[in-house]
Amino acid sequence: MLLVTGGAGYIGSHATRALAAAGHDVVVYDDLSEGFSDAVLGKPLVVGDILDTEKLQKTLKDHAVDAVLHFAARCYVGESMQKPDLYWRVNRDGTRSLLKAMAGAGVGKLVFSSTCAVYGVPDSVPMHEDTPHRPLSVYGETKAAMEGEIADSDVEAVVFRYFNAAGASSDAVLGERHDPETHLIPLALMAARDGATLTINGDDYPTPDGTCVRDYIHVMDLADAHVAGVQRLLAGNSGLTANLGSGRGYSVLEIVEAVRRVTGRPLATQVGPRRPGDPPALYARAERAESELGWRPQFTDIQVIVEHAWRALRD
Ligand SMILES: NC(=O)c1ccc[n+]([C@@H]2O[C@H](COP(=O)([O-])OP(=O)(O)OC[C@H]3O[C@@H](n4cnc5c(N)ncnc54)[C@H](O)[C@@H]3O)[C@@H](O)[C@H]2O)c1
Repeated sequence: MLLVTGGAGYIGSHATRALAAAGHDVVVYDDLSEGFSDAVLGKPLVVGDILDTEKLQKTLKDHAVDAVLHFAARCYVGESMQKPDLYWRVNRDGTRSLLKAMAGAGVGKLVFSSTCAVYGVPDSVPMHEDTPHRPLSVYGETKAAMEGEIADSDVEAVVFRYFNAAGASSDAVLGERHDPETHLIPLALMAARDGATLTINGDDYPTPDGTCVRDYIHVMDLADAHVAGVQRLLAGNSGLTANLGSGRGYSVLEIVEAVRRVTGRPLATQVGPRRPGDPPALYARAERAESELGWRPQFTDIQVIVEHAWRALRD
């Protein structure tokens, strides 16, 4: 049995579905602050706060859990700068609470959702796993602290640093439902749908077309990596830290073009100022996940990623 914290959220719900499809029994633990009960697709759901150690421990014991996948977190960069205490509490203290509950229930295997935000602005790209941690946001700092809590604990852990999660399940059953939405692809799709204008945050970066370049990784590929990660731990193998990216970057203008092609709508854009702290280009060196887990992203064509996101976009 696997426990998925944050399994009612965007990435956690896709992972829960992929884990079940791979034959695992799954129970989701989520406070539904950002998630949706219908996204667990009928799997058992315990509604609870990650800070409630007692409830977590009881859930781990009641369901005889063998391993945990920890997605539950606050994950908006902007909000983290306005409400740092909330981020330290839910993210770092929540991870402490989970580790304590796991120790109490005798569960020693963990797959953890970290982020490329722990690297901040790297000296060079692509970023590898040993790129120094220089997070720019409170969000990135708390994620680095969560990694530290896990490293200092007794659990065997697979730590995944995701780049930009994107797309939706190919059958459009699950998708991205963040509120407020801050990610480029859904923002561009919503603007195309609503006839609104998309603001491009700076077009004078030292990149081929002047707009920021990011590594978009399909959420179904992320889900598959989690299946491989937890199976590695369940087989008794050691933990690891691995980037999850495609290894290729797309610029904002390339995303805009893909959205126009997929939607068939004339997405209007305007250029605004740069966002403070936005690095010109971020993309992963992702070989470790392949060599250690046999995982390779399947959906690397940005057109396919945007198509899946478009089909799953809700009003
Ligand atoms: N979306 C990305 O591009 C991205 C990139 C890198 C890392 N991540 C990480 O992946 C994980 C999932 O991200 P997501 O985009 O699916 O976010 P999300 O907000 O959709 O999912 C997070 C889930 O955690 C739950 N949650 C929040 N606080 C909780 C609490 N106190 N107790 C219990 N549950 C709580 C929410 O209800 C939600 O269902 C996060 O840890 C995030 O930091 C996401």
